Parts: sequence; structure tokens; C-alpha cells
Amino acid sequence: MPLVPPYIESLRPYEAGRTIESVRKQYGLSHIAKLASNENPLGVSPKAVEAMVKVAGGLNIYPNGGLDLREVLASAYDVKVENVIAGGGSEGIMSNIIRAFLCDEDEVLTTEAAFIGFQVLAKSRGVTYRTVPYRDWGYDLPALAGQINANTKIIYLANPNNPTGAIFTRHQFDEFYKHVPERVLIILDEAYFEYAKDNPRYPDSMHYRYDNVITLRTFSKVYGLAGARIGYGFAHEELIRNLLKVKLPFEPSSTAQAAGIAALADPEFLHRSLELNARGLRYLTEGLTDLGLTVVPSQANFVMTVLPTGQDASRVFEELLAQGVVVRPLKAFGLPHCLRISTGTDDDNRLCVEALKRSYAANLGASHTG
Ligand SMILES: Cc1ncc(COP(=O)(O)O)c(C=O)c1O
Repeated sequence: MPLVPPYIESLRPYEAGRTIESVRKQYGLSHIAKLASNENPLGVSPKAVEAMVKVAGGLNIYPNGGLDLREVLASAYDVKVENVIAGGGSEGIMSNIIRAFLCDEDEVLTTEAAFIGFQVLAKSRGVTYRTVPYRDWGYDLPALAGQINANTKIIYLANPNNPTGAIFTRHQFDEFYKHVPERVLIILDEAYFEYAKDNPRYPDSMHYRYDNVITLRTFSKVYGLAGARIGYGFAHEELIRNLLKVKLPFEPSSTAQAAGIAALADPEFLHRSLELNARGLRYLTEGLTDLGLTVVPSQANFVMTVLPTGQDASRVFEELLAQGVVVRPLKAFGLPHCLRISTGTDDDNRLCVEALKRSYAANLGASHTG
């Protein structure tokens, strides 16, 4: 269709993980473990729910573009409000970055099989999108530095990385940064920051307030607010000023903003969420390893397992689905032989390992009988 530019025509629409309802219906199951979208299995902070209900009566009034949340974050991180942006999820802000800073000749540089949300947004701009392969399932920062050219405009780094769960360290980032010219914008996507922040090797980007680094964070993961669509970013005020020019003026919604502010003031929910996740990561990593599966060590709220072939990954995905366990196939990311499994409640994690065991036993049986 001539109206559609070729770089849009060739895109594949974002495919979210399967919903609980559709799996329940398809297989006639009563309980589904949804371990497909890195959501918080504990639900939502009661304080956030309370805050949303409280502002609901004022929804006839337009929101203030995230100013309240920006002020709270500026004060919490000891930066100016001009250094903070709030938006409709961190992807909402990512989309503004793409719109504000990329011109036709510019190039984007990142790892292969990067977070799919970024892939889709960057490719939808029709610019050259270049990648380097993973090294040990993490960003190969020296290789990325070696690929920077005169047209490179944005380098996208997710730390921890989705879908592999790996991090790069402070030392690795310091080395990398020396090779990045100031005209290149680094997006440091820290959607999983809270899960990694206590690791002493993890480079909390708030300690790297360089002029060409923008940090993105979200309330969708450990704060359990994926459905509210609320995220935020920190950067030099010049970058934020330009982002605000292209941002939809009334994002985030009043309810999303109120939920975010209240979630920040609920350390107990945060603590419980982190504890559950740490337990889940250990359990899934050990459980899968014991089954002989390859698991990438994770610093986030999911693990990635590497299967021998894409067919194996599809088969295991289908077999888990039939047992009520929904995980994430990674074909769309560019890793058809891998599956990503989010941590769930203790019961759901157990269900997942048991289902994998059954699927394994069935396959062993099949190969023994020829
Ligand atoms: C690396 C990464 N960045 C950003 C996001 C999107 O977060 P949000 O819900 O804030 O748009 C995700 C969600 O899966 C993610 O994994």
C-alpha cells in the first residue's frame, strides 16, 4: 500500500504475552501461572490503589504532565525538576526520545535481540538500526564502542538486560564511556534497576549524570503498576527540555501519577516484592539447572533458558501452556531457541518447574520408545 513507508510495512506489530483468560479458555484450566511479561506477582501496592481511588473523583480535570511526580523524584534524587521527565511508561518516554533526537541519516546502535519494545520503536523511525552480537548473553560493550561511526546518534543499553537478565558492570561501563563521543546519546534503560541495585558491581546510572546519558526507569516492574503506564527518566536539562516539546502534554494520567507517587512511599511493598523475586530467581535457576537446562544468571525478575533449537523452544512453550504455565517465547526478539520465564509466586514457580519436569519426562519416554 503506497501510503505506508517500507520501514513501517516491514515491521511486525508488538505481540504481548498470552493473557490468562485466553489460556484458561483454550485448555479448560482453573489456574494459570502467567510468567510471560515480567510483572509483579504480588499485585499492586495497597497504597497505590488507595491513591488512585482518591484522585478518581477529579478525573474531569486534565493532569499536569507529571509535574507532581517529577518534583517528588527530583527531591528524592537530589536533582532539579528540570532533570526529570515522567511519562506513559518508560516506553512512552523512549518513544519521545526517538521522535526528538533521531533524524533520517542517524543510526541507532545496540545489541542483537535487544528489548523488543526498543526494536519496534527505533525501526518505526526508518533509520539504520545496527547491532553487535551478545557476548556471554550480555552487551559486548567493547564491540559496540568499535562500531560507533559518524552517523551513530543513539546507543541503547538495557541494564539489567531484557531478555537475558545479564548486567554490565561499573568498570565495563566506565571503559565503554571513554569511547563514546558527546554527540551520541546513550539510553540507559533501567527498567529492572531495583532488582540489581544492591549488587556492588552494578552501575547505578544516577552516579553517571553525564550530559549525553538518559536514564529510564519504570513503575511497571517491582512497583506492580504495569497497567497504569507510568515511567520516568533523568537527564541533562537540555535533553529534558527538548523531550518535553514532543511529549504528549497530558501524559501521564492523574491516576498513574498518583499511583507512582504512592508506590514510592511504600517501602514495605518494595521489600516484599524484592524478597519474593530473589527467592523465585534462586528456585527457577536451580530447578531448571537440575533438569539439565542452560539458564543465564539473572539480575532481574526473570530467567532466560537456552534450548538446543527453535523447535525445542516451541515444543516446551506449548507443553507448558497446556499445563497452565505461560512463559515467553523469544522468537520476536530474535532468539527463537530461547524462552524467558518471569518469577511468580512461590506456588507458580513450583508449578513451572513441575511442568517442565513432566514435559522432560515425557520427552525422555518418547525417545526411549524410539
Ligand atoms: C528493558 C525494558 N524497558 C522498558 C520496558 C517497558 O516498561 P514500561 O512498562 O515502563 O513501558 C520493559 C518492559 O518489559 C523492559 O523490559
